[in-house]
Amino acid sequence: MQKICAALKRKGRTIGFVPTMGALHKGHLSLIQQARKDNRTIVVSIFVNPIQFALHEDLKAYPRPFKKDIPLLQKENVDFLFYPQAEKMYPENFRTSVEVKVMGKVLCGVSRPDHFCGVATVVTKLFNIIQPDAAYFGQKDAQQATIIRRMADDLNMPFKIKVMPTVRDTDGLALSSRNVYLNSQERQDSLVLSKALGLARELIRHGQRNALCVINRMKALIRTKKTAKIGYIAIVDSRTLNPVKIVGNNCLICLAVRFGKTRLIDNLLTRGE
Ligand code: PAJ
Repeated sequence: MQKICAALKRKGRTIGFVPTMGALHKGHLSLIQQARKDNRTIVVSIFVNPIQFALHEDLKAYPRPFKKDIPLLQKENVDFLFYPQAEKMYPENFRTSVEVKVMGKVLCGVSRPDHFCGVATVVTKLFNIIQPDAAYFGQKDAQQATIIRRMADDLNMPFKIKVMPTVRDTDGLALSSRNVYLNSQERQDSLVLSKALGLARELIRHGQRNALCVINRMKALIRTKKTAKIGYIAIVDSRTLNPVKIVGNNCLICLAVRFGKTRLIDNLLTRGE
């Protein structure tokens, strides 16, 4: 893959890269479509990265509908699918990791302390293999996108990171490969996430600037659903991930809530609310 990409670059082709873990949905496809618009060649990776899962997490159960993913990629005219084996990515003597300090330990990093280090490490490896001109990520995983941007900047990675808006189901639930785990009651209850973010937007539009007040109203709404168990709700600066007391522009209102065994995340970026 590295040789193929290097040869393409020598020919002057621009490479757009979309890293994924497969189980593709319209959220992934929106990234691919943007990459298609911006670049001559598109590379998509599918790799369920073991080092970003903790031992008790769903690495084994993570959906791998590979045969369904292929036609979706063909339909989007993806040029190359990179689908490496875990043993090739992490041979026995593998010892290196990439850590974006502090930012990887807050929000989702509290309950998943090694997760973002696993993400930053695999994304760095993938970037070094593909050598893209631009790489595409989703706002759905806002903390991940912020961390990747920080890492690319800190380590002088010579390409653009583009972050595309969250794609939602018609009823508002943010698309995620993990939504298939939800039973019908949990799926119904999960709508409260986009509703809570909508409530936050309304409160802010009507002049509420106190972050704690907004968070408390969101908590109260989410707690009306029996299957919902709040992990965190936070309002942070979207670039630093530091908590804010007063809500202004470029704040990230983000949450993680468990429905049964399934942990869902969602967020909203404030822009001139
Ligand atoms: P995965 O969960 O497969 O997501 C791949 C990309 O799709 C990520 O950038 C994610 O933010 C984006 N995405 C997921 N759902 C989306 C939605 N509803 N709308 C818009 N974009 C969405 O994120 C990962 O894989 C991994 O951590 C990875 C970056 C591949 C590293 O292993």
